Amino acid sequence: MKAQIEQTRIAIEDFVITDATSLEAFRIQFIGSKGSIKQLFGGLKEVPNEEKRAVGQLLNELRQLAEGKFESSKDALETTESNDSTIDVSRPGEPIALGARHPLSIVRSEIISIFERIGYTVSEGPEIEDDWHNFSALNFPPEHPARDMQDTFFIEKGEREMALRTHTSSVQVRVMESSTPPIRTISPGRVYRNEAISARAHCFFHQVEGLYIDKNVSFADLKQTLDYFAKALFGEKARIRLRPSYFPFTEPSAEVDVSCTICNAKGCNVCKHTGWLEILGCGMVDPNVLKASGIDPEVYTGFAFGMGIERIAQLKFKVNDLRLYSENDVRFLNQFKGVNF
Ligand code: DAH
Repeated sequence: MKAQIEQTRIAIEDFVITDATSLEAFRIQFIGSKGSIKQLFGGLKEVPNEEKRAVGQLLNELRQLAEGKFESSKDALETTESNDSTIDVSRPGEPIALGARHPLSIVRSEIISIFERIGYTVSEGPEIEDDWHNFSALNFPPEHPARDMQDTFFIEKGEREMALRTHTSSVQVRVMESSTPPIRTISPGRVYRNEAISARAHCFFHQVEGLYIDKNVSFADLKQTLDYFAKALFGEKARIRLRPSYFPFTEPSAEVDVSCTICNAKGCNVCKHTGWLEILGCGMVDPNVLKASGIDPEVYTGFAFGMGIERIAQLKFKVNDLRLYSENDVRFLNQFKGVNF
């Protein structure tokens, strides 16, 4: 009897349960009403009285072993089965709604791609800038009003004055200092000015600066480049006009208008009935600026230009409140879904 019990114990332990069928086979073989444990219990009456207690105990342990194995195997199978039934790998996935690119990102990448086509690289500089790169190297006289506390967010006063850059022209200086001509680069980035926030002004906005330095670069090259740019951006019909202007870092300087794309230069509210929209500032790089950055103005000349991304986006998408760009209202942002320019 004891030998039989021992054999059954080994058989229970060795029995491999992998699925519902083998689980059922296990139950029938050991636990069921005709199973081996029941039969062994049946044989208990043949056991001599003095051994009954001990053998009975062995049998109880055997039954616990079998039932324990049955229950734990059943649980394990149920959890894997229920997992299998909830994860159907052949089902199509839950679609994740596509977001929209920010209008300023759309405009920025369009501007970059237009200039990349004519050989411009993209360069970047820090938003926290020193006085040298933001003002001095760009030929700003010490008393120039742009240095005023009203316009500039100063971070550190003193020997090495630090401020949030007020324009991306600072990147011009960095590029000229660290490379030799020919230089053809544009620098998109965020700039900061100490202004009260309103529909028409913000304390931060975005610009793209352009710089071209080589031998024999002329004002005609500048004009031609901007004409190409305006047509690529606003369409073949777009025309530009240059008005004389002043910037410390360019001589001569000009402001550039593009023919109003909204009314086809006939005159409307957006162009204030002039037929023209101002889009950028430009000029020939002042010899003082070349010198300050270690480029010989006797050998090289160049032009520079700078434009506001918000301004172009305003013309392109008719957004007339600057605050919308940074409020992240999804009702605003959703309108740019799938917009490519
Ligand atoms: N830095 C000027 C601004 O923030 C824009 C500008 C004007 C950049 C003329 C230029 C330029 O490179 O030549 O208003």
